[in-house]
Amino acid sequence: MGSDETHWNEVYEGRDEAEVSWFESAPERLAALVAAHAAPGDPIIDVGAGRSRLVDLLIARGLGPVTLLDLSKAAVEQTRARLGEDVPGVRFVTADVTGWSPDRGDYAVWHDRAAFHFLVEAADRAAYVDTMQKALRDGGTAILSTFADDGPERCSGLPVQRYAPEDLAAELDALAPRRFRLLATERLTHVTPAGAEQRFQTSVFRHTA
Ligand SMILES: C[S@@+](CC[C@H](N)C(=O)[O-])C[C@H]1O[C@@H](n2cnc3c(N)ncnc32)[C@H](O)[C@@H]1O
Repeated sequence: MGSDETHWNEVYEGRDEAEVSWFESAPERLAALVAAHAAPGDPIIDVGAGRSRLVDLLIARGLGPVTLLDLSKAAVEQTRARLGEDVPGVRFVTADVTGWSPDRGDYAVWHDRAAFHFLVEAADRAAYVDTMQKALRDGGTAILSTFADDGPERCSGLPVQRYAPEDLAAELDALAPRRFRLLATERLTHVTPAGAEQRFQTSVFRHTA
């Protein structure tokens, strides 16, 4: 994963917030989905958080504590600087999720927008799902957004694995049989800052320990 770390650090050091295709000024829909599955005080993790403003919306709703995890130290440090040092209840982790030992096993929500789809190797997806299982509490919720089956084949210049919602559910079930039950799924179109349309899917799963 070393080369990926370099790639992502170069992206975040070289481009401003709204210069990356995945930028969303206010990811309200995702915040509402997270809020539907977390009460104030419930731990939430955003995996591959990058510089996402999701955390701002969660804090504004009184939710958290929120852990922000990303492979890129540059992204983590830029988010830390944007939020300020003293935002209570936000924890920053620089790590590759596929090799991370969760800091706690009682997360109520595991959120990921456009990180899982970079895992094109089966072994990395298995490690990811193993980590997700260890991090989530019994009855916790996983919210995973990826490029859909009719979405782009690459993101940030890297190849991605695209998923129809039923394919993502089947993948999780294969890696962790009967541990992730699909609750809801939606297809959506993200419009990049440059005006291109990208087809995404977002799926919500209930975790059984
Ligand atoms: C397309 S960006 C999306 C960022 C953010 N979720 C958003 O929606 O704005 C993908 C992010 O996943 C991170 N990432 C990619 N592979 C990762 C891995 N194995 N572990 C942790 N983060 C990873 C990248 O550094 C990048 O910040």
